[in-house]
Amino acid sequence: MNDIFTNCKLKNGFGPSVQATAAATSPTKRPLSPDHPNPALPITETPSPAMNRMGWALRTLLVADNSSCLKDRKVSGKLIRKCAPGTELVDWLVNLSPIVHTRAQAAGMWQALLEEGVLAHVNKEQPFKDKCFLYRFRIDEEGGTAAAGVPQAEDLGAANEHIREALSALFQRGPDATLRMILRKPSHERTSEELELVFEELVHIAALSHLSTSIKRELSSIFVFEAHAQAGTILFNQGDEGRSWYILLKGSVDVVIHGKGTVATLKTGDDFGKLALINDAPRAATIVLKENNCHLLRVDKEHFNRILRDVEANTLRLQEHGKDVLVLERVAKQRGQHSAFKYTVMSGTPAKMLEHLLETRLGQSVGGMDPFLDDFLLTHIVFMPVVQLVDELANYFHCDAHEDAQTPEDREYIINFKKRVIQFMQKWVMAVRHAAFEEPSVCDFIEDLAAEVEADPDLNEETSIVHNVLTQMARYQEDRNQNAGQKWKLPPNGQPICLFSGNATPSKTVIRPDDDIIFRVYCADHTYCTLRFPMHTTAELIKACAADKLQLNRGPEDLVLVEVKSNGERSVFKDNDVSIPTGLSLNGRLFVSVKDHLDALTQLQEQECPTEGVDIDLEILSTKELAYHITLFEWDLFWAVHEYELLYHTFGRHHFGKITANLDVFLRRFNEVQYWIVTELVSTPSLSKRVGLVRKFIKLAAYCKEYQNLNAFFAVVMGLSNMAVSRLQQTWEKIPSKFRKIFQEFEALIDPSRNHRAYRVFVGKLQPPLIPFMPLLLKDMTFAHEGNKTSLDGLVNFEKMHMMAQTMRTIRFCRSRSLGLEPPSPKSEGEVRSYISSFRVIDNQRVLTAMSQKVEPTRKL
Ligand code: CMP
Repeated sequence: MNDIFTNCKLKNGFGPSVQATAAATSPTKRPLSPDHPNPALPITETPSPAMNRMGWALRTLLVADNSSCLKDRKVSGKLIRKCAPGTELVDWLVNLSPIVHTRAQAAGMWQALLEEGVLAHVNKEQPFKDKCFLYRFRIDEEGGTAAAGVPQAEDLGAANEHIREALSALFQRGPDATLRMILRKPSHERTSEELELVFEELVHIAALSHLSTSIKRELSSIFVFEAHAQAGTILFNQGDEGRSWYILLKGSVDVVIHGKGTVATLKTGDDFGKLALINDAPRAATIVLKENNCHLLRVDKEHFNRILRDVEANTLRLQEHGKDVLVLERVAKQRGQHSAFKYTVMSGTPAKMLEHLLETRLGQSVGGMDPFLDDFLLTHIVFMPVVQLVDELANYFHCDAHEDAQTPEDREYIINFKKRVIQFMQKWVMAVRHAAFEEPSVCDFIEDLAAEVEADPDLNEETSIVHNVLTQMARYQEDRNQNAGQKWKLPPNGQPICLFSGNATPSKTVIRPDDDIIFRVYCADHTYCTLRFPMHTTAELIKACAADKLQLNRGPEDLVLVEVKSNGERSVFKDNDVSIPTGLSLNGRLFVSVKDHLDALTQLQEQECPTEGVDIDLEILSTKELAYHITLFEWDLFWAVHEYELLYHTFGRHHFGKITANLDVFLRRFNEVQYWIVTELVSTPSLSKRVGLVRKFIKLAAYCKEYQNLNAFFAVVMGLSNMAVSRLQQTWEKIPSKFRKIFQEFEALIDPSRNHRAYRVFVGKLQPPLIPFMPLLLKDMTFAHEGNKTSLDGLVNFEKMHMMAQTMRTIRFCRSRSLGLEPPSPKSEGEVRSYISSFRVIDNQRVLTAMSQKVEPTRKL
């Protein structure tokens, strides 16, 4: 058997396709459509020596018996030598042996001989029946000397000597032979007693133990027995359509996968083949019989779908070389699919999951994205770096690189596989957009792919797909070149400002890893240096450079880069951390400090009470216009965030060496709006103006909600609920009850209880475009991350990846339509826009509370 795989033609890591080698060991392939076994025929190619001898002994005694029923008879004018009716053979056997009590037992014993070809119906049309059908021994069919005449005394002696043993062995085999005979009959020919016999046997099969009695009864009538005489027979090929499910009753089979050879051997009692049936996918492996005379029970697809599909066991574990490589679980399917369940991946090795995708999830479905494929594309960076993925894809695509001669079957398989790799590429780009093109290895691969597709006439239909991907890549590269050298400045407060961008719409500027950013780094005495570095620069490099410029004269091992927040809190950066400046909190500042002197770091005066910012009389601004511009501004920030940034943020960007600048900026914005509300209110000494402002902010929240900017809506309502604002009793007393009621409704919507149920229900009904409450999405990511291990027993916990991908898909959904808000009548457009893009904000709660006390001192009782 091994020869089949070692001699096979396809190598190059893709290798063994099961091919015929020498005639003797040639694997023979069954026809694709399930065949119908004939219980009148033997199940072995030749009788076993033991059965032959038993047959010989019985025949010898029969022939020697004077009253022998074994006679030459004329049937339809044709002479048939030494045949006997079934009834008489049964009579003879019952009389011969005291161990045979019933006619059914005797019939089973004759059937045991028939199924090995020792005995046969004269026309090969009937299994053994206790009826007047005529049967004869094989030896008499063949004629020859052994068949002729009365047996010699010496033969008779030998037969008599052997007969006890033979009868006892046949007696043992009878019931199984009967059962196999029933299971080879068409369903409608099985009698109720026969079905009962089968049912009693099914109770003992482990692979069926999870099924109810009524299902086992149904199965009794549709199970088909299959016997295969030759080791090396291919039951089905990888890539074939799934037609049946099998249980191995006797023998063993090899599970063979292209490029891997035999990955597992299944033994008696194991089952296989339901993956393709349940998922309506091609076969994931080739099944080759490892031994001669294997016995299988088979359920064909139509019956499987009707009886088993929805009650199949929950978990399916695929093994390779004794280890689990893919664990699948039955889950409810979406509406519109013709069964309620299908298998989805729970965990697996990265390579097996990719193989599963390419083998079974691509190629058939047109249009929509398979959910497993989408999850994989969104999260693979966690468990399979891009370079490795590209490598594996290239291997799959070039599987035929060293092949000279290929059979048409090989070629078809290879072409199909290439098509799937191309489809994978297309879906990849569709799922992660420009992130795919940011990796040079991906671009090289796409170019290789394009050249090969062009040169291969079999891939003609794929050229348009590849051209489309190439065009997207060229567009991305053009955009990159235009924006090369993009430069940002981190102002003392507010968002990073883009100083230079080649982008025609500078508002929609994505911060890229190699963009420069200008920022300050302070030291303990509050002197600072200004640095300019690419976003992806590590904390270590910034630290070294700042120390040098500030002349700290200490080695890098003695120094740390640290953020000092406006409340004096310090947070130290890891040396390998990136996108440092954008990751600072609202009024946070970067410091470089001697490790042992961290305690000496104090915040700057300007951090507590920022002075910069646009001064404007909020009273005169239209609230709707404010909400409108806030929404436009935040839409652009939201638009720039890539779904991957959520993964970098959750797992720690230092693990990936990737920046999270766009997400950082969007999150900062949330705090900025929230603290802007508080800052404005506590710095307004006039009670009537404060009352006016509270009303304005409640209206602002209402407009943000109307514009579906839930991020700003939360920020405004949370700002109004801040302790420093909610304690302003005199102010709230003067708010009309109508406004107070609306505000209460808003507070109910942001209520975090039951995992933000109120908000989730509300947002669940909205259609895009919308700006979601980002901190909740990050909380969901963190929850999925902290509550679930990434690796389970050496396999990727794909359930976790699925949970994370769901959150990432939410972002995709929110942006699936572009924002097309009707502008409110523009009065002071430019002024509002510059105001809302850089609020003057105090984010130190202690300072805010003190200011609140100042404008409304606590009433003495
Ligand atoms: P199916 O894809 O229907 O047909 C091939 C079968 O091989 C598959 O279902 C599984 O039941 C079985 N199998 C067992 N081990 C593996 C494995 N490691 N990879 C793929 N299939 C396997």
